[in-house]
Amino acid sequence: MKRLFATTFVAICCSLFTWAATLPVIPAPVSVTEGEGYFTFDSDTKIAVENVQQLEVAQLFASHFGKAAGFIPATSIGNNGNIMFTTDASLPAEGYKLDVTPSAINIKAADTPGFFYALQTLRQLLPAAFDGCELQQDAKWQVPVMQIEDSPRFGYRSLMVDVARNFLPKSELLKLIDIAAMLKINKLHLHLVDDTGWRIEIKRYPKLMQVGAWRMHRDEVFPARPNQRPGEVPNEGGYYTQDDIRDIVAFAAERQIEVIPEIEMPAHTSSSLAAYPELACPSVDAPITVLPGGGGINTQYIYCAGNDSVFTFLENVLDEVMQLFPSQYIHLGGDEAVKTYWGRCPLCKARMETENLDNLEDLQGYFMQRMSDYVRSKGKIPMGWDELTNHKLPDDIIIYGWRGFGEAATKAADQGHKFIMTPARVLYFIRYQGPQWFEPYTYFGNITLKDVYEYEPIQPKWKPEYANLLMGIQASMWTEFCRSAADVHHQLFPRLLAAAEVAWCQQGNKDWQDFLIRTDAQLPRLQTMGINYARSMYNIDHKLTPNVKGKTTVEMSCIRPDVEIRYTTDGTQPSSTSKLYNKPFDVKKTTVVKATTFQGGEQVGEVLTLNVNFNKATGRKATSDVANDYVLTNGLRGSDRHSDFEWAGWYAKDGSFVIDLGKRTSIKRIVLGCINNSSMGVHIPAEIAISVSNDNKSFKQVAAKSYTHDEVFRTRTAIEDTEFDNLATSGRYVKVEFTNPGKCPKGDFKEGQDTWVYFDEIIVE
Ligand code: ACM
Ligand code: ZN
Repeated sequence: MKRLFATTFVAICCSLFTWAATLPVIPAPVSVTEGEGYFTFDSDTKIAVENVQQLEVAQLFASHFGKAAGFIPATSIGNNGNIMFTTDASLPAEGYKLDVTPSAINIKAADTPGFFYALQTLRQLLPAAFDGCELQQDAKWQVPVMQIEDSPRFGYRSLMVDVARNFLPKSELLKLIDIAAMLKINKLHLHLVDDTGWRIEIKRYPKLMQVGAWRMHRDEVFPARPNQRPGEVPNEGGYYTQDDIRDIVAFAAERQIEVIPEIEMPAHTSSSLAAYPELACPSVDAPITVLPGGGGINTQYIYCAGNDSVFTFLENVLDEVMQLFPSQYIHLGGDEAVKTYWGRCPLCKARMETENLDNLEDLQGYFMQRMSDYVRSKGKIPMGWDELTNHKLPDDIIIYGWRGFGEAATKAADQGHKFIMTPARVLYFIRYQGPQWFEPYTYFGNITLKDVYEYEPIQPKWKPEYANLLMGIQASMWTEFCRSAADVHHQLFPRLLAAAEVAWCQQGNKDWQDFLIRTDAQLPRLQTMGINYARSMYNIDHKLTPNVKGKTTVEMSCIRPDVEIRYTTDGTQPSSTSKLYNKPFDVKKTTVVKATTFQGGEQVGEVLTLNVNFNKATGRKATSDVANDYVLTNGLRGSDRHSDFEWAGWYAKDGSFVIDLGKRTSIKRIVLGCINNSSMGVHIPAEIAISVSNDNKSFKQVAAKSYTHDEVFRTRTAIEDTEFDNLATSGRYVKVEFTNPGKCPKGDFKEGQDTWVYFDEIIVE
């Protein structure tokens, strides 16, 4: 935010940092000039606008005062107002100028969204109670005297909500739309279809609602949920009626949000195939059910590309969808289509012959082209995920870059296609947002609030023309691990605030510390709106690294620079007077480190407990063929989340590592920390051999163990240590060699897939 003159200074109670903050508005406006005094809203306030569209925008804003303040400012078309809207066609699309004096507010914009956004800026400057339902007699309904000039960086500022994995009641979706609009997000991408549920009423195909919208409830986390068994009656789900959809679209339109429906094809469709199994390839010879969770190989049941009824079905579905959604865009999915059954299907093979297609990827290209053509024939623009770059791209399709850092989308840009970035590595809010020990169980690595905030979609290595084809960014809220709206809130907030700022603010106009102050100011508003936001930004990350002296170095950090980290090493709870952490320190004997964060003397984070355990291997270098070898001897055990950074993993291969104990050492016992997470294809090794050496050249095997197939492929998530007792040996070097258990067996969650082997620690006694 450019500060043109005096700014409000907010002193943060903190011994480390004090900084100046500008207006607590997210996303930060392009420029703000603050003056003296306030404009106060009261029962005499009158908003005068030029036309009906502006009137709707003004009335929506004015209506908030009803419940919270007990008065509603008058709104009318004309000149009778102390708040005036004036069209200024010279301003950028969606931009606005806001001039607040003690007696009047003048708003200029080129279009209706511009006026709406000016009011969202005012909304954020009013007390949090403005967004509540209770009368606040003593609130000050005032905004500071100021001038703002503002406009967005990107025209496409999107939130995706996956209502297929976790069905959100309409009221909850409307709440998210309202908050997204407050953050100047202008697209809602609704992921309406997946293996786990069909969420939109299609009148022509009633079984989509009767069958496709319902699955078996399972208590397990998503990847571990068993598929529906014969005789079970699905008992969890729901869908939006066509009236619900009209309400959602209208509610969003009032808030300048375009709702983009996604109808997945040809994969992620078990829900519709459970309802109409004749649309799958005839090569599928098992019952198709709506999947409660990961689904294993059942996710490989997809629409048959050789059956013309599939295209008729999808065209009829899209006809109803296009009637309901005025959006210019229709998202056709296209991701993660495993084509096992296409390869075995006579109809698909016949299609490949008649259409002269070389391979199954090109068959998907045919499928997507045919459906994209249908969408285009109705005057709409098709969209799809970046797998569509694996084959010839359908004409005019817009691509969402999602895999990794979303770079595949630039392959589409090379062919002149527009694209949107929603990289899984930065904008998939399914991922952990802080140290995993304190987070609800979910997938993969961490994406902190800071990671989102610092995201820059335009990469230095990009060709210049990509920037013109990049429409914007999307925060994607996948809900596999959510069971309630509160769970969705936790994953979405406050990260959505950071994504909104990335989408709106010009490059170089972001400031992490300033953003935190503005976030702090807006969190009470989210609370007033019933949002269960995460406090992960206050938690401590740690890194324990063995050092050459056989000690282990403890590093701790927090993404908030305005907190103090205080810690103890005697097992007691840390307090505001405990030792202040200001640099890494060494631990050389078994120690319990407890640490947490404080702001202004108040504890704000969770207590991190590091049980650093010393044995003969602790702090000794472990050399292996995977990169993160130090983790095996840092003295710290991992949790049952093998992605918590305390585990070293080997995929689809045998492995080994060697520990240098520093000198010839007697060895009685060795424990290897392993983990089994069957739903993620993580298993203990089939065989482990231990050998010792004094010269790191000639090794003598001193112990070995092998596990049966059933022991390796147990269905559970648990830490499973392997212990070698009564060794009575000695040596300077200890080598561990192990055999990968091979592919997951028939009936397993990951049937036919390669396995991971993970170790967190080697303990030598
Ligand atoms: C996706 O995450 N499969 C688009
Ligand atoms: Zn087929």
